[in-house]
Amino acid sequence: MLLRAKYTLCASSADSMPAKIIPAFRKTTETFAAGAKTLPQQYFVSPEIFAEEQERIFSREWLLVGHQNQIAKAGDYFVSEVAGESLIIARDQRPTIRGFYNVCRHRGTRVCEDASGHALALQCPYHAWTYALDGRLIGAPHMDEVPEFEKAKYALHPVNLGLWEGFIFVNLAKKPRPLEEWFAPLAGKFSHWNLSRLRSVKRVEYDVKANWKLMFENYSECYHCPGVHPMLSKVSPYDSAENDLTEGPFLGGFMRIKKGKSLTMSGDACAIPVRGEGKDQEHEQEGKDRVFYYSIFPNMLLSMHPEYVMVHQLWPQSPERTLIVCDWFFHPEAAKRDDFNPEDAIEFWDLTNRQDWHVCELSQQGIASRAYEPGPYSSRESIPAAWDREYVRRMG
Ligand code: FES
Ligand SMILES: [Fe+2]
Repeated sequence: MLLRAKYTLCASSADSMPAKIIPAFRKTTETFAAGAKTLPQQYFVSPEIFAEEQERIFSREWLLVGHQNQIAKAGDYFVSEVAGESLIIARDQRPTIRGFYNVCRHRGTRVCEDASGHALALQCPYHAWTYALDGRLIGAPHMDEVPEFEKAKYALHPVNLGLWEGFIFVNLAKKPRPLEEWFAPLAGKFSHWNLSRLRSVKRVEYDVKANWKLMFENYSECYHCPGVHPMLSKVSPYDSAENDLTEGPFLGGFMRIKKGKSLTMSGDACAIPVRGEGKDQEHEQEGKDRVFYYSIFPNMLLSMHPEYVMVHQLWPQSPERTLIVCDWFFHPEAAKRDDFNPEDAIEFWDLTNRQDWHVCELSQQGIASRAYEPGPYSSRESIPAAWDREYVRRMG
């Protein structure tokens, strides 16, 4: 009852805001942040709200679990923990990408123990029931002695899975909104980035002692950049944000990069452009001096630089802890060049990431205090305010 009253309170203030997506890039203005305040304390510390988020958001929405090139060959698989479930994401012999609950149809045992691997079939470690990579049960010792037992009735339980721009999404809902419908507002928007072809060169996992929403709010503004990221601010002015998605589950826009500079430790480009060289006349200029930041509700941050793409997955572990998986993607041909220097970008953003996680952890500590009360967002925090509104809507 208490929780419901809080949601209603926030939703009504959200309703007074204009709910629309503005197609053209625009400078962030005061309009959308005016009057908005940060969320009340319980949204960051309450186990009950955390459980409700797991049910209403992480068990119902499309969630990013990886990229198709992570499992490039038939037989490649990885295991993903989603809202308390263990899922197997595998490429079968066709080769189609499929998802299954990691639950043996015999006595329920976890089938895959390894985080990732390559296999001709998936065999349960308990009594050796064996499943093809499309989920069919193909081996069950002594079960032919059981009257009326039919292997065909005991395939691994599938999970809803779909691809968007090469990224793999799953949805635990029984009948989710189709993935294509969910991503319809972004249809074609990123196609010139060739995201589906990119290869992850590096993955870093961060265990952050802060509520997952703080990372979204942090990602959505650069008001904090001059103090928190002096190095980033030197090459990408903190006040250069222009947003084209300002309301709804997809939010963000671009920031400028100083002429001839790159978001790397050295300041030089570290790879060939992710869009390919010389094939992209229409977007040529914007691809050189802009970095695009988009949040995809509820667990993806997509950061597109001229020569690399960084993607964060956010996995809430408790009200006060979040696992963040960060991948750095490059053009598939980038590694063939002698001047390929991915560490230059990885080190830059690993440093910047850690600066962000540190202030998020400090926020978590302060928000947990009895002295905390929602504070006013500034004119440079319209996107965090919009993200909060979408969150409140999703919580019903
Ligand atoms: S529980 Fe998997 S084979 Fe018995
Ligand atoms: Fe930051």
